[in-house]
Amino acid sequence: MEYFKKILRFAKPYKLFAILNIISNILYALFSTLAMISLFPMLSVLFDNTKAVYKKPVWRGLSDAKDYIMQYLNFFVTERSQQDGAGDVLMLMVALIIVMFFMKNIFNYLAMYFITYLRNGVLKDLRNELYNKTVELPISYYSEKRKGDTIARITSDVLEIQHSFLSILELIVREPLTIIFTIVFMLSISPKLTLFVFLFLPLSGFLISLIGKSLKRKSDKVQKEQGHFLSILEETLGGLRVIKAFNAESRFGRTFQASTKRFYNFSNSLLNRQNLASPTSEFFGIAAIGVILWYGGQMVLVEKTLEPELFITYMTLSYQILTPAKAISKASYSVKKGNAAAERVMEILETENPIVDKPDALIKDTFDSGVDLQDISFKYEDEYVLKNFNLKVPKGETVALVGQSGSGKSTIANLVTRFYDVNEGKISIDGHNIKDISKKSLRGLLGLVTQDSILFNDTVANNISLGKENASKEEIIEAAKIANAHDFIAELPNGYDTNIGDSGNKLSGGQKQRLSIARAVLKNPPIMILDEATSALDTESERLVQDALEKMMRNRTSIVIAHRLSTIQNANTIVVLQKGEIVEQGSHDELIAKDGAYKKLVQMQSLG
Ligand SMILES: Nc1ncnc2c1ncn2[C@@H]1O[C@H](COP(=O)(O)OP(=O)(O)O)[C@@H](O)[C@H]1O
Ligand SMILES: [Mg+2]
Repeated sequence: MEYFKKILRFAKPYKLFAILNIISNILYALFSTLAMISLFPMLSVLFDNTKAVYKKPVWRGLSDAKDYIMQYLNFFVTERSQQDGAGDVLMLMVALIIVMFFMKNIFNYLAMYFITYLRNGVLKDLRNELYNKTVELPISYYSEKRKGDTIARITSDVLEIQHSFLSILELIVREPLTIIFTIVFMLSISPKLTLFVFLFLPLSGFLISLIGKSLKRKSDKVQKEQGHFLSILEETLGGLRVIKAFNAESRFGRTFQASTKRFYNFSNSLLNRQNLASPTSEFFGIAAIGVILWYGGQMVLVEKTLEPELFITYMTLSYQILTPAKAISKASYSVKKGNAAAERVMEILETENPIVDKPDALIKDTFDSGVDLQDISFKYEDEYVLKNFNLKVPKGETVALVGQSGSGKSTIANLVTRFYDVNEGKISIDGHNIKDISKKSLRGLLGLVTQDSILFNDTVANNISLGKENASKEEIIEAAKIANAHDFIAELPNGYDTNIGDSGNKLSGGQKQRLSIARAVLKNPPIMILDEATSALDTESERLVQDALEKMMRNRTSIVIAHRLSTIQNANTIVVLQKGEIVEQGSHDELIAKDGAYKKLVQMQSLG
């Protein structure tokens, strides 16, 4: 239960509902027992078996409660049937039963009513916290994890936990109380007979717990498979174009079917196990009842130590004990499942974010002198991608990084934005190590335009204003103009209010790129990082985007990662990378004159 306990803190704000639920459940347990007991007077009248009592009994304290109640009942029935006749008394007794059942169900509903707020509140808060954590965790977390797995945890695991909150309260309050109340009444009817029930209850309890044991493992497997299955779905939707173009439908279909088949097998064995609990407990229950029937029947028929109507009431009571006993076995299973789900959820919530702000992190909102990468080394996994790397980007200058793919250019962008932390060395802005600057203010200083423009299913205007929430319409248009995007936006059916579809799929590559540039322009950060912002474009849109980029880079400090060398000829410094090391550095003219790696790259491209 350790994980479930950790989740309990989410129930704290809803404590009041838990208390109201407990109170309702206490009353429910009481009335459901009384409802059974109320059969007795009805039966007694029906069988015409009440002993005539003409004198009102006197209350002699709790120890005589049972006698008092019996006496009083007999007195009441005797008096009433003399006045109104037996038929009317019977009706009264039936009414009593109905009232008791009514009360029982009212409190049943109230108990559920209150717990609903707790359950759904926990669901809401847990999902919110998970979402926040999902956003907070570093990029590196997701290169190892499947996205579908995270989605499964936020959706179905959280639901599982929500479900088990109902069960836990049933488990610790409602059903035990019902059992206790019932047992108290059973004892008061016949202690001897009750001894029998005690002999059988623990036995069937033990057998049922055996079934519950293997359930956790099975439910774990089912949930994992669910995550896998969502991952495949997620990838399929993301790559639908490629899947269709490469006729890979059947290949993805096979992977998907393999997953659903595993899910089928796991959940079959899980459900069958689960379904075993109820019939087993019912059967053991009825076996126990059989023994009581035989033994109690003897008491009624042979020994004549028990009234028949008391015996029938007793039997319904002992049958009633079975319902909560069954419910307990079911609830304990559900709590076990909840615990497994809580484990998976806590795993995300307890993942330490390695990239956190220091407690006294610097809030830096100005940029004065430059960005400095000193002696940095970095590896994603085992192999160093950058080793003892040095680079200075003075304020107001443009530094271009060129080199073959895989040489570590994007890695530098990842490190300056602190998506990853360097292993050795340090990156500083104006002499402050970026690890000392708050992440929020660091990223406030940076603008990022990546190769694949990342756009959201929202309007043009909202996509542009992502980095500046309260930007005015004029500012957005101004930014779009600088990014050479205004003209095409104006032609869209709803202009700036046009929805651009999932990931901006209603736009062309060049248009998407210009939207993400407009976004960076509007944010207006002092340092700009462009990672192959023009690589995916045709010549026409490249000219437009290039023009947009140049306008944006004016009076700004920029790190430009370029695939097309024609785009960076005006950079102050061009750095040529090879396998994470600088092989050449200088202006375009200097490097051409040097006749080295850069010139070779330029020649290769102009040939192409
Ligand atoms: N998330 C990652 N996990 C592991 N290795 C990575 C990751 N991202 C990039 N790499 C590796 O780091 C090296 C440099 O990649 P990158 O900086 O993206 O190159 P590029 O110069 O093409 O932008 C490559 O060898 C690549 O395989
Ligand atoms: Mg790259």
